[in-house]
Amino acid sequence: MHISPLSGISADALNALLDDAFGTDRHARTAYMLRKDMAAIDHLSFGILDDGELLASIQCWPVRVGKADLILVGPVAVASHRQNTGLGKRLMQLMLNAATPQDAPLVMIGDPEYYGRFGFSSNDTSGWTLPGPWEPRRLLLRNSHMVTLPKHGMLGPAD
Ligand SMILES: CC(C)(COP(=O)(O)OP(=O)(O)OC[C@H]1O[C@@H](n2cnc3c(N)ncnc32)[C@H](O)[C@@H]1OP(=O)(O)O)[C@@H](O)C(=O)NCCC(=O)NCCS
Repeated sequence: MHISPLSGISADALNALLDDAFGTDRHARTAYMLRKDMAAIDHLSFGILDDGELLASIQCWPVRVGKADLILVGPVAVASHRQNTGLGKRLMQLMLNAATPQDAPLVMIGDPEYYGRFGFSSNDTSGWTLPGPWEPRRLLLRNSHMVTLPKHGMLGPAD
């Protein structure tokens, strides 16, 4: 297996992986509205390949809450035939290791039962709103440098 920056992976391979992991109706998800028209952050977006096959990917995007910068993590996608074999954990660790102290706090929409192990929680996100439907328990923040963030505000793409 090898790791590649996601910018080096074909859009067709990435779309096929995301359709497999999340379904072809994935574009209607609120997370897609959040990062509309944004480019992924190259140093935090990776793919894992095996013999040329894209098995897993993680993408991160610049977003904001009010005037504060955040990094939206996700989608994190693992091919259905390789789920629960450690690839999701590996991607998350790769991304966290690549994040620098200058990078903004991380936000994501995901299952706290899974992402809690990487330091994400919904404890400080209850005053935030999103441009589409969401479950408050699944709006997760990892603010390891304790950056001051607005208590209330709408999340959306960075300008
Ligand atoms: C969610 C996902 C990224 C996890 O990656 P993965 O490579 O399959 O999982 P890992 O091998 O890293 O971790 C496996 C562990 O996480 C748990 N786990 C996996 N997905 C989980 C979820 N959605 N909620 C809670 N726990 C989960 C497994 O039960 C397993 O637990 P264990 O360590 O106690 O045995 C991957 O399964 C995926 O792409 N799923 C499809 C998309 C999806 O359903 N996303 C929902 C979350 S946003």
